[in-house]
Amino acid sequence: SESSCLSIVVLGASGDLAKKKTFPALFHLFQQGFLQSGEVHIFGYARSKISDEGLRERIRGYLKGASDEHVSEFLQLVTYVSGSYDSGEGFELLNNAISEHETSKNNTAGSSRRLFYLALPPSVYPSVCKMIRSYCMNPSSHAGWTRVIVEKPFGKDLDSAKELSAQLGQLFNEKQLYRIDHYLGKELVQNLLVLRFANRLFLPLWNRDNIDNVQIVFREDIGTEGRGGYFDQYGIIRDIIQNHLLQVFCLVAMEKPVSLKPEHIRDEKVKVLQSVIPIKHDEVVLGQYDGYKDDSTVPDDSNTPTFASLVLRVHNERWDGVPFILKAGKALNSRKAEIRVQFKDSPGDIFKCKTQGRNELVIRLQPSESMYMKLTVKKPGLEMATEQSELDLSYGLRYREVKIPEAYERLILDTIRGDQQHFVRRDELKAAWEIFTPLLHDIDDGKVKSLPYTPGTRGPPEADELSKRMGYMQTYGY
Ligand code: BG6
Repeated sequence: SESSCLSIVVLGASGDLAKKKTFPALFHLFQQGFLQSGEVHIFGYARSKISDEGLRERIRGYLKGASDEHVSEFLQLVTYVSGSYDSGEGFELLNNAISEHETSKNNTAGSSRRLFYLALPPSVYPSVCKMIRSYCMNPSSHAGWTRVIVEKPFGKDLDSAKELSAQLGQLFNEKQLYRIDHYLGKELVQNLLVLRFANRLFLPLWNRDNIDNVQIVFREDIGTEGRGGYFDQYGIIRDIIQNHLLQVFCLVAMEKPVSLKPEHIRDEKVKVLQSVIPIKHDEVVLGQYDGYKDDSTVPDDSNTPTFASLVLRVHNERWDGVPFILKAGKALNSRKAEIRVQFKDSPGDIFKCKTQGRNELVIRLQPSESMYMKLTVKKPGLEMATEQSELDLSYGLRYREVKIPEAYERLILDTIRGDQQHFVRRDELKAAWEIFTPLLHDIDDGKVKSLPYTPGTRGPPEADELSKRMGYMQTYGY
């Protein structure tokens, strides 16, 4: 039918992100019936001079868990256009290919839907967006749409981010731009609003009177293998904390939105970000793992942190005095991302059980999605003794039949549907950079040093000391 013709263009089609994330996500959407053979076409675009088959072969190995037949059916929807990122020729070819597809689907009224996914380094965003704007827009001004997905890093600090935003803002309006942060596509991140605002249990407890401290932690057990060149320019704060962990922080700390409308949710995120006070140097621990500089693309005197633990403080009625510890590191002892909300001790304790630990709500984003609440219980048996145990919701057990979707899958579907809730708005991005830019500049100027740590450990011991100083009481299982 006229309105259902959809063209998806993956720019940077032969690159890593496209192969590992974008195409597999498109494939999963296809498998689940969200992309119909009759209406969708996928265009790969990149500089390499390869054929349609050449691209298909590159992608095939990443499409797992399906029959060859299904994979081939999907790959038939994919064709390739080769061209540069800054000249009109390639984009004219691309536009011709898209128009041809639309015509073949009788989409003559021009109500085409065109989705551009920039799986590219941000340095080429401005020129690529200019080309899309000049050559590849949906020709109709009243039907269909053109949408563009961009990936972080959106700049390196406040000024460069503002400049990039201004450049893209001249070409596309906010409704057309989808700034992806794939953490917003994770199941347990999406559950945060429900957990907080649909459960009476948490509503009265979620504040400074009851919560002692919050930790949001990302660990990876691999280093920067193969990405040293990129990573050294950015470091762990720009790579993980300023975006992924900060988005999680927003959902944990923000006020209740007026409704579930994307703008209402994003308004609250901006508000809480604006309430964060400047980060203090003595509440920051940076680390760099031994061996990081062995990478030939990393300079010998690099101070770039591969680990950071830092404290955010929210200046408002709900959170005054509660430290939010955001911690991320590469080459650590495990791969894990979780939120830990630690409650205060119960007053007037008659069980003398304080040393066993506090109530703590743990939300594990990955791996093995789960939520558990640590409680003190009577140790089963004849004696009146207490111990810590937990109320445990492990998704693998409780939702055995459900396949949890990949983050990219969900976010691409949101883009097709025009739902911007899980994408970063321009003012949100600015507020995020405002928080981190002073610290990042001090790190770049060598005013805050990265401490060495051994790969495969918890990071510099100073980080655990910082958490302890912030009131975190380490208990079992951590
Ligand atoms: C990316 C970072 O945004 O997120 C990588 O650039 C990191 O350095 C990755 O490895 C982690 O994503 P996930 O989904 O595996 O936690």
